[in-house]
Amino acid sequence: MTVNICARKADKRNTVRGCCLILLCVFSVMVIAVEPKSPEQMVVSCVPCHGTNGISVHDTWPNLAGQDKHYLATQLKAFRDGTRKSAMMYPMAFDLTDKDIDDIAVYYNQLSCN
Ligand code: HEC
Repeated sequence: MTVNICARKADKRNTVRGCCLILLCVFSVMVIAVEPKSPEQMVVSCVPCHGTNGISVHDTWPNLAGQDKHYLATQLKAFRDGTRKSAMMYPMAFDLTDKDIDDIAVYYNQLSCN
């Protein structure tokens, strides 16, 4: 019985190439995932309810513009941690880090409420 060594070597090379490609993909995704987002990027999902300038588009949704940053951060952490219950706000806050929240709070605090 003859063993095709060349074919085996080629197989091995393909496996190594395949693994490198997978590692490269995983690494790229990790780089994208850890890249910090700017407050402007993070608040894109808030705009439909809280308005482009932090002034709500509906009277049942609160204005955020000019609000105290400690208050905003405390409320967002409470939504995230479930201590302030809101079916609308929990999905918006559950994956925010403390830093994301602090950045968002500063962002809305700096917007004019007039
Ligand atoms: C689907 C509409 C909706 C979206 C989208 C939304 N919110 Fe809200 N938000 C609400 C509602 C409604 C409340 C009031 C919740 C309650 O007390 O039940 C609220 C409350 C808040 C409060 C507390 C305000 C206060 O005066 O106590 C903050 C802060 C806040 N939202 C920030 C955000 C941020 C930041 C985003 C985006 C990441 C966001 N919201 C996205 C509807 C929304």
